[in-house]
Amino acid sequence: MKTFYVTTPIYYFNGEPHLGHTYCTVASDALARYKKQRGYDVKFLTGADEHGQKVERAAAEAGVSPQQWCDDLAVKYKAAWQMLDIEYDYFQRTTNPAHMAAVQKIFKKLYDQGDIYKGSYEGLYCTPCETFYTESQLKDADGKVNLVCTAEGCGRPVERISEECYFFRLGKYQAQLEAHIEANPDFISPPSRRNEMINNFLKPGLTDLCVSRTSFKWGVPVDFDPGHVMYVWVDALPNYATALGFMSDDDSDYKKYWPADVHVVGKEITRFHTIIWPCILLALGEPLPKMIFGHGFLQIEGKKLGKSLGNAIAPAPYVEEFGVEALRYYLLREFAFGPDGNLTHDGIINRYNADLANDLGNLLSRTVGMVEKYFGGELPDISAPSPYDADLTALAAAMVPKVEAHYDKLQFSDALNEAWNLVRRANKYIDENAPWAMAKTIDADPTKRAELANVLYHLAEVLRIMAIVSAPVLTRTPDVIRAQLGITDAALATWESAKDFGALPRGVKVEKGLAAFPRVEKAAEVKG
Ligand code: MSP
Repeated sequence: MKTFYVTTPIYYFNGEPHLGHTYCTVASDALARYKKQRGYDVKFLTGADEHGQKVERAAAEAGVSPQQWCDDLAVKYKAAWQMLDIEYDYFQRTTNPAHMAAVQKIFKKLYDQGDIYKGSYEGLYCTPCETFYTESQLKDADGKVNLVCTAEGCGRPVERISEECYFFRLGKYQAQLEAHIEANPDFISPPSRRNEMINNFLKPGLTDLCVSRTSFKWGVPVDFDPGHVMYVWVDALPNYATALGFMSDDDSDYKKYWPADVHVVGKEITRFHTIIWPCILLALGEPLPKMIFGHGFLQIEGKKLGKSLGNAIAPAPYVEEFGVEALRYYLLREFAFGPDGNLTHDGIINRYNADLANDLGNLLSRTVGMVEKYFGGELPDISAPSPYDADLTALAAAMVPKVEAHYDKLQFSDALNEAWNLVRRANKYIDENAPWAMAKTIDADPTKRAELANVLYHLAEVLRIMAIVSAPVLTRTPDVIRAQLGITDAALATWESAKDFGALPRGVKVEKGLAAFPRVEKAAEVKG
């Protein structure tokens, strides 16, 4: 069986999960679910980045030990992912002793082979952003040095620090990395990120990277030099490999799933994943991940939401108001995956009412309602074609490969739009056939009876197919659809069966249930 390994970043444990984390995790989850549907043996990893000064400080402010702080947050993150129907396979934590032992081995190996060496670092440092600057990086247009952090939205003072530290010879691997990027066009995706990485970081040239710190304690110790702890990225990036047992006694999962198929990451950490991580892997002689996908940032009602900036908006109130599926659907349908997006409360309502309540929810309730009303809940096993059948079935057949191509490229919005074209076409098919008019004469006219059965059968087939292709994103409704259409045969729920319009046996028996996606009104406000 083919394997598929997808990861989210491990989230900084300096605060609770917010909508930005949700975006990244929901997208990765949708991809993992889709690949499972396509028959892959999928491993889906998420987790926690628990070391570093920010975490140490946050714990101190809360008056608890860093470990306690992280343990408490792990519970909150796991609860959030459960609330969002995230089906991860493993939750990695960088305080996990197995991870710590493995990164110590990595560090030592790189040191022994001369790729890590000891030196000293002088620079200007922004603690909240954990970013070093040289003076020239902080010069304004007039050449004046401003001692403030230039990270988007930060602007806080930087501190001048000088520290003994270990360096990783990043520059040594530049040519090899460039050749890899050249030979593997999807390695950095989407193409806009690839260009950004090449122009902003590779063209100016890579310099060696400081990989240890002595100014804080909360990190993985450099075991051969007490006083040094590993600087976050060298601890964090290998989590993707250590979660599979890399550098441990049992690396069978590593052998099976590595290299990762996709690291899904936000745009601001694309550089670490496309440059530093690959160079570490090149130094270790390990294969590189197949793709790093750098997605855009979400704003909430036009405001930034970010790691050092506060303004962290929790997903829970949105789930309470709209339901988990609506939030997942909105996040993946409303914004192309790649560029930035702006989430708005009104936008969720509009999208929910249009796509979920009116298009899909109505199609289900109308179809089931008509089977009940006109045929007492069970379609007769008869059929007379409608002139509109061919168009509908052709659209359905063409839709599935297009949806596949979009999901494969992490273009969730296009995949969903393509799938919803079928729902919209089916609603038009109802108007074209006017089943209510056919129904008037079904008792007296067997042809009309067969025509009506045919129309309703086609609608049931569309719903069966929609339940399959929407399942990466809608985690519950597909089962609701199948239950209402009386579909119990698992063979009718496989991805391949979505390509087989007509697989549903005639004689559909329906069971009306609660309406999927009842409409919501704009007056409602998100609480909290
Ligand atoms: N700990 C590092 C990642 C280490 S991976 C080896 C980190 N953590 S983070 O919690 O700050 O961010 C995690 C992810 O959340 C990143 O991919 C980031 O882009 C994403 N998001 C944080 N805010 C976001 C938005 N407002 N919108 C979309 N994604 C955002 O970086």
